[in-house]
Amino acid sequence: MKFNLRKICVLGSLLLLISFAIAWTPGKEDDRNLKVLPKDISSDSLSIIMDEFTEALNVDCAFCHAPKDPQNPRKLNYASDANHLKDVTRTMMRMTYEMNDKYIKSIKQNNIHLVTCYTCHRGNSVPLEK
Ligand code: HEC
Ligand code: HEC
Repeated sequence: MKFNLRKICVLGSLLLLISFAIAWTPGKEDDRNLKVLPKDISSDSLSIIMDEFTEALNVDCAFCHAPKDPQNPRKLNYASDANHLKDVTRTMMRMTYEMNDKYIKSIKQNNIHLVTCYTCHRGNSVPLEK
């Protein structure tokens, strides 16, 4: 049940952000390199989504984010697209949102469970085939 609660929070905040383009701006908006999420997303909402990714795939931030300097791999350049898994992830995000918007939400029943990264990945960076 713990995961369900988190899932509801994450999806709730995503839906809010996407449908109403919230007025609050974190300031660093111009430096952002966001192609799927709204550019004016708050840092808090961004962290919730990034935490969801790390948990669903059981990876750390460096799995998708390239280092600022190869000599010091612990400091990451989050806006950089040098790690190609960031673009793979953008495709996964679009796919997941579309599955929910186009198909899951069209199901007429009371307690709809939306698709999340965890639905397929279940703690694996590549989902298991069996
Ligand atoms: C599975 C891949 C993945 C993981 C793991 C991941 N991120 Fe991200 N992150 C992304 C993608 C993709 C974007 C860009 C989203 C977009 O284009 O809308 C992003 C964007 C960001 C940004 C915004 C950068 C900018 O352009 O301003 C920050 C900050 C960030 N991530 C921090 C983190 C942190 C901190 C962690 C670890 C807790 C993390 N990410 C883990 C894929 C990932
Ligand atoms: C409908 C099932 C499904 C959903 C939902 C899904 N994925 Fe995936 N994902 C896959 C499959 C299948 C692959 C493996 C593709 C391949 O063979 O390279 C994959 C691969 C990936 C990879 C590449 C891993 C690697 O090491 O090559 C990343 C990163 C990823 N997914 C992130 C995400 C994130 C983040 C989300 C949520 C926004 C997500 N996925 C949602 C099915 C899914």
